[in-house]
Amino acid sequence: MILKFLGHAAFQIITDSGISILIDPFLDDNPLAPVKSQDINADYILLSHGHSDHTGDTLRIADKQKTTIIAVSELASHYTQLGYQTHAMQIGGAFNFEFGRVKLSKAEHGSMSSDGRYTGLAAGFILNVDNICLYHAGDTGIFGDMKLIAELHDIDYFLVPIGGNYTMDIQDAALATSWINPKFAIPMHYNTFALIKVDPHEFQKALAEYGHQALILNPGEELKL
Ligand code: NI
Ligand code: MN
Repeated sequence: MILKFLGHAAFQIITDSGISILIDPFLDDNPLAPVKSQDINADYILLSHGHSDHTGDTLRIADKQKTTIIAVSELASHYTQLGYQTHAMQIGGAFNFEFGRVKLSKAEHGSMSSDGRYTGLAAGFILNVDNICLYHAGDTGIFGDMKLIAELHDIDYFLVPIGGNYTMDIQDAALATSWINPKFAIPMHYNTFALIKVDPHEFQKALAEYGHQALILNPGEELKL
């Protein structure tokens, strides 16, 4: 697969069979995003929660082709009502899609749409695609059950928020990484806004103290996994 960082918490996965999956596609209103909604297509969009810096351009992208939106039931139902194809799940549940397995994990965070609608619990994603296991933590503070997630899953790449204020900061994200024990941690959810400005190299240093490695991706950078 190809894993491409699109800025903030947004990633694109292109599977070996060519399926395009977007996670939290916040592009048009993110000056750091390397592509805009008009330049990208998705077969699937995974949404971690209802905040607008995650739901982003879901509608604009899903309008272009048959796209299935995967999210917790309450958030998914919002898109079902608008006539979009959805797949509703809940935290702790997993499903085998054509591209691989998606499991929703807990996240310690709020969730509400920008127009004030209830959108269920915030979540993260544990993805098994092309024999790679990714854990996209969503927006979350650190929580002890990350140790349980590590016990249940052999995680290769940990996509982890480090910006603080709304999520884990660098120190908490480094401790969380030591629990998750991935091959690499990829920092996200930082520098998009003034409140979450951090130096990702400080995360790299903090991780080194635990004997772990961070892969810092600039928006637009991709990895062939
Ligand atoms: Ni949020
Ligand atoms: Mn956020």
